[in-house]
Amino acid sequence: MSGHSTYAPKTGFGKWMDARLPIARLMHDSFVSYPVPRNLNSFYTFGGILSLMLIVQIVTGIVLAMHYAANTEVAFNSVEQFVRDGNFGWLFRYMHANGASMFFIAVYIHIFRGLYYGSYKAPREILWILGCIIFLLMMATAFMGYVLPWGQMSFWGATVITGFFTAIPMIGDSIQTLLLGGFVVDNPTLNRFFSLHYLLPFMIVGVVILHVWALHVTGQTNPTGVEVKKTSDVIPFTPYATVKDAFAMVVFLIVFAWFLFYLPNFLGHPDNYIPADSLKTPAHIVPEWYFLPFYAILRAITFNISIPFTDIVLIDSKLGGVLAMFGSIAVLFLVPWLDTSPVRSANYRPIYRWFFWLLVITGIALGYLGSRPAEGGYVLAAQFFTFLYFAHFLVILPWLGKFEKPTPLPASITDAVLGEKAKA
Ligand code: HEM
Repeated sequence: MSGHSTYAPKTGFGKWMDARLPIARLMHDSFVSYPVPRNLNSFYTFGGILSLMLIVQIVTGIVLAMHYAANTEVAFNSVEQFVRDGNFGWLFRYMHANGASMFFIAVYIHIFRGLYYGSYKAPREILWILGCIIFLLMMATAFMGYVLPWGQMSFWGATVITGFFTAIPMIGDSIQTLLLGGFVVDNPTLNRFFSLHYLLPFMIVGVVILHVWALHVTGQTNPTGVEVKKTSDVIPFTPYATVKDAFAMVVFLIVFAWFLFYLPNFLGHPDNYIPADSLKTPAHIVPEWYFLPFYAILRAITFNISIPFTDIVLIDSKLGGVLAMFGSIAVLFLVPWLDTSPVRSANYRPIYRWFFWLLVITGIALGYLGSRPAEGGYVLAAQFFTFLYFAHFLVILPWLGKFEKPTPLPASITDAVLGEKAKA
């Protein structure tokens, strides 16, 4: 796929440059002549949308940082002052805060697209793993960013989440102290989080470059899951994919603008408009919506795991919750090896398709349960859906691939697109 370059510099300067630093050739081969399957649907535009959102977050974040003061005495007011008095401060701030939500909406669609079309299967395992690393970095970045405005949810969210590190045997307390820069969430914590919140997006950029590189080595999949076989299966990236990606970005930006201009606080929590107060614990401490499924898993483990018929506790409920939460992300790294089906796309996997939609429902249900107090029926429901989540990856994926009878695959992408006409 990375194949032979068709780039021919036209000007004298172009030729001179091409012999020294062939960056124009790289761009041409990657984004102009690069062959993409002719049958990509709109779900394949989210990678481009994510790249755009990464740029939006970095640009708005840099402007916000110019007006932000990472000190617990003034952090809250420094943000508010920029919003109220700064030139377009409100716009930068709301773009950044809502942009984070839009980024996560896009990444969840991108991940589920990958799960549906089996994008993680050989030879795209590294591409998938790089994606999982990006996802982890995104979560760390968003968590630390949310602490910076130093509102009530910032402070208490940071207190609760960093508190979970103490569940790790032997080294947990030291990890927490290192993270916080002390024994409680305070000024050193805010400084660390600001520093890391500024650094991590650039690390994400680095991993995205590797991600796209890996993509260009293996080539994209497509809704049939059948690999490219002949030249009629592909079309050049420009103008076809560029125009399609651009159109999808505009539609996505309209949705973004709708939140931004009409509902700028809809996705946030009102308590974060109250300055942090270490003496007043909010009634319900909830993270941002995009963390809720993982928060539900964390709180679903309400029981200790003991050696049977003894009182010896192997894993207490707190450590169990932390392990389940990290496990729910770790399991994603293993998906290329857990799925044993020889068929890539769910379009040709009639039973997997049902389980895929069950996983989507599980994610939404866990998200809802993460927003509810951890009591009574909510905990039971969270335990049920946590079980379903892990069962999907650890039981269904390995098992189904061996039993499921796939429907017949098209001979090629061209055949799938043109049907009878291709045969004629
Ligand atoms: C900042 C975040 C990310 C960016 C900018 C990004 C960018 C891209 C781009 C540009 C593509 C090609 C277009 C497309 O297929 O949509 C792509 C494909 C892909 N991405 Fe991502 N990605 C990100 C996060 C992730 C995550 C979190 C995962 C998985 C955990 C992932 C897994 C994949 C896979 C498997 C493909 C290949 C799809 C296929 O050919 O079927 N990506 N990504």
